[in-house]
Amino acid sequence: MASTFAPISLALTTALLLACGNGNGAATDGTTAESTTTDAGTASTTTGTTDVEPTTGAPAGRPNWHEDVAPVVAEHCQGCHIAGGIAPFTMETYEDTRDWAAVMAFDVAEGLMPPWHAVETDACQPPHGFKHDARLSDELKAMFQAWSDNGAPEGDPSLAAPLPTPPSLDLPDPSATAIMASGVTVEKLDNTLDFFNCLSIDPGNETDVFVTGLQLIPGNRKIVHHVLIYVDEAAESAGWANGIKPDCGGSSGLSGKAPLVSGWVPGGLPMEVPADVGIALPAGARLVLNVHYHATGAGPEQDDATGLALRWTTEQPEWVSMFSLLGAPGDGNPLSGPFVIPADTTDHVEEFEWKVTGPGNTDFPDSVEARLWAVAAHMHKVGVDLRVWVEDRDSGAETCLLETPRWDFDWQRVYEVDRPLGDMVRLKSGDTIRVRCVYDNTIQNPGVQEALAEVGLDAPIDVQLGEETLDEMCIGAIGVAVRQP
Ligand code: HEC
Repeated sequence: MASTFAPISLALTTALLLACGNGNGAATDGTTAESTTTDAGTASTTTGTTDVEPTTGAPAGRPNWHEDVAPVVAEHCQGCHIAGGIAPFTMETYEDTRDWAAVMAFDVAEGLMPPWHAVETDACQPPHGFKHDARLSDELKAMFQAWSDNGAPEGDPSLAAPLPTPPSLDLPDPSATAIMASGVTVEKLDNTLDFFNCLSIDPGNETDVFVTGLQLIPGNRKIVHHVLIYVDEAAESAGWANGIKPDCGGSSGLSGKAPLVSGWVPGGLPMEVPADVGIALPAGARLVLNVHYHATGAGPEQDDATGLALRWTTEQPEWVSMFSLLGAPGDGNPLSGPFVIPADTTDHVEEFEWKVTGPGNTDFPDSVEARLWAVAAHMHKVGVDLRVWVEDRDSGAETCLLETPRWDFDWQRVYEVDRPLGDMVRLKSGDTIRVRCVYDNTIQNPGVQEALAEVGLDAPIDVQLGEETLDEMCIGAIGVAVRQP
């Protein structure tokens, strides 16, 4: 993955796409050639394979940058493709973007951009959508394709469409903002570009509170690649020197199980729990940020001071949310043998099941209403697919909650269900939740290549359960809101 950040490899990608199109023989120049690379995409191929121009009802010169593309890019791409952002090129002007038109059309058609990994599959159609779904409509995908096919016209600036205001990344009405106690300096060492540090954050609440919103504040956007946020109820991390546990791998760095509350990726909006729900944060508890720093392209030495804004209420809300980690490490029993992913195997499966219970593994009566409002997947770099689903205690009916069939360690987030609480999946004591993880432990898996490079190996090894980069996990995290008596 590291190499995709280098301008040289991006240029190569473009060249390859162009060469690939020309090799097909049908196209006479670079701009019409691209459509041949996107056959797998949308229905737009009709416009690219002929030199008869008016194949669609679109007026001449449409779509063009000023009237059509710029507002879409502002809304869907500039969260990351902006000066100082994490993406490898900016999309702020026509000049920035023009030469990328073919690759943009290809990436959006394939669903690679904007990044979004909770997708429907044959095995998994969740009954609800998720908030902040980044996927583009077929119309917008076709618009990118048509723009590219027509040679990426600029259009007339005097006809420019108004640009949407970018969504605010700031949490409204925060109660507290806490930034890490001491800075982290990241430098490119040998061939190591990725660093995982766990940071202890003191939210400073003097009494027990209930969190209703949470926003990650990345200190240095050039190197903060993604962040997982855990609750440290016992404040164990207060003992870390300078508040930092270096090289903590893919997890919280704490000794016990720590509930995952959120995951942040660049462009990610603040997490806001549904109305009337709060997440308990006891007085004195800490939060741990597992930060993935990626040093490429950011210069020799970069400093970071990342933190959080939190909104909380001191009054007990009507619903209290808890997070559970199911799988390994987490609650539930393995349905497969010992957790070992042999070297050079594809389609290796680890599966777990958990009978829904209340705190302390006790059953709870049907009068207790529990609703599933958030779900997340967590594996490391050998994983390729994760699915979480629930089987009803009485009917045996199965409801899928999440599948991430194109797993990418770099784009982990918590998916918040986009429904009113009363319409969300209800969990009853005795229902069964299953988590199924698929791994590809061959050198063909780009994640395995990265992980091997990080530890200085050149061939896959047997992978076991653990926290290091070349260990694995299989976790379905669920956020469940329980109505208080
Ligand atoms: C959430 C952040 C984010 C958003 C939103 C986003 N991108 Fe990206 N984009 C990236 C990052 C990061 C990369 C570098 C490759 C990677 O990490 O996957 C990238 C790479 C690309 C590339 C180059 C891929 C290659 O082949 O090298 C293209 C083209 C692209 N994005 C197009 C788009 C378009 C078009 C949109 C909007 C419709 C968009 N992106 C929205 C973060 C984003």
